[in-house]
Amino acid sequence: MVLVTGGTGYIGSHTVVELMQNGMEVAIVDDLSNSDVSVLDAIESIAGKRPVFFQVDMVDAAAFSQVMSEIGPSIRSVIHFAAKKAVGESVQQPLLYYRNNLYSLINLLTEMKKYQISDLVFSSSCTVYGQPDKMPVDETTPRKKAESPYGNTKAICEDIIEDCSSVNKLKAISLRYFNPIGAHASALLGELPVGVPNNLVPYVTQTAAGVRQKLTVFGDDYPTEDGTCIRDYIHVVDLAKAHLRALIRLDQSKESASYEVFNIGTGSGSSVLEVINAFVRSTGVDVPYSVGPRRQGDITEVYANTALANKKLNWTAELSLEDALCSSWNWEKNYRSKQA
Ligand code: UFG
Repeated sequence: MVLVTGGTGYIGSHTVVELMQNGMEVAIVDDLSNSDVSVLDAIESIAGKRPVFFQVDMVDAAAFSQVMSEIGPSIRSVIHFAAKKAVGESVQQPLLYYRNNLYSLINLLTEMKKYQISDLVFSSSCTVYGQPDKMPVDETTPRKKAESPYGNTKAICEDIIEDCSSVNKLKAISLRYFNPIGAHASALLGELPVGVPNNLVPYVTQTAAGVRQKLTVFGDDYPTEDGTCIRDYIHVVDLAKAHLRALIRLDQSKESASYEVFNIGTGSGSSVLEVINAFVRSTGVDVPYSVGPRRQGDITEVYANTALANKKLNWTAELSLEDALCSSWNWEKNYRSKQA
């Protein structure tokens, strides 16, 4: 059985579906602080089976240990998503982020050691690269000082895992995601909007749906072709598949080191204006926008070199930006129709 922490969240839920559709048994641990229990119904309707579920805050070592006393002996591998992820909130409440993201990981590694569970996939981020000096960014690119406490927790967690992997019989892979977008083709799973979205694509779909009046493009005076920032937008279903490949590598590869890192992106960058235009073109729905000032902390450009993941994980992103934007739009429409 695979333990998926944060398995009812955005990337976690898509990954659970992918694992179950490939015949794996899944147990989810999630505190539901940023997701809804109804995600389990959605997973069940897509995968035809309900994952085992425990509502628990992993920071609570005793409570998590209690869960592990039930399932620990049957867990073969772990994918660790459970973490707080809002960049702006982390700047306002750094201790909340350090406490939550670091203690959860430490409690997880403690339990993994106790039950001799060796395989771990960790949910990391391209945020650890900061603004890289050359593009595209590969895994040998040095990490830079994090722009936010959130980003710093990702870098520190990577280091904790690497240190433990050299002594604890732990075999781990950190996946550095670029910008995950999109939703499941069924429109039953997607990014659940909580309050005003911080990220571009949920803001685009909510503006298209009329929930927000207008999108603000944060700056058009960057040194890029159209002046707006460039990111590598990866479809969440492709991203979910990368986790399956990482588990397979941990289980089967004889040549893999005890700790490895892979970039998970498409390998090409899109500007904010390109994303808006692609959305309008592929859905036929207009998105009113205006250009505003730059957002503090935004880097100009980041996109991945994915050669290592292509070769060693046998994984490549298959879905296009248009696929991702259409799926996000279908998810938004489905979600709104259920709220009405
Ligand atoms: N943007 C807008 N208007 C908006 C929202 C975003 O113009 O309303 C722009 C941003 O300025 C940026 C681009 O859209 O240029 C993408 O912004 P997102 O907030 O969607 O994504 P970020 O690249 O800022 O952040 C993402 C993840 C973080 C992670 C980071 C790593 O959300 O968790 O990538 O670079 F840390």
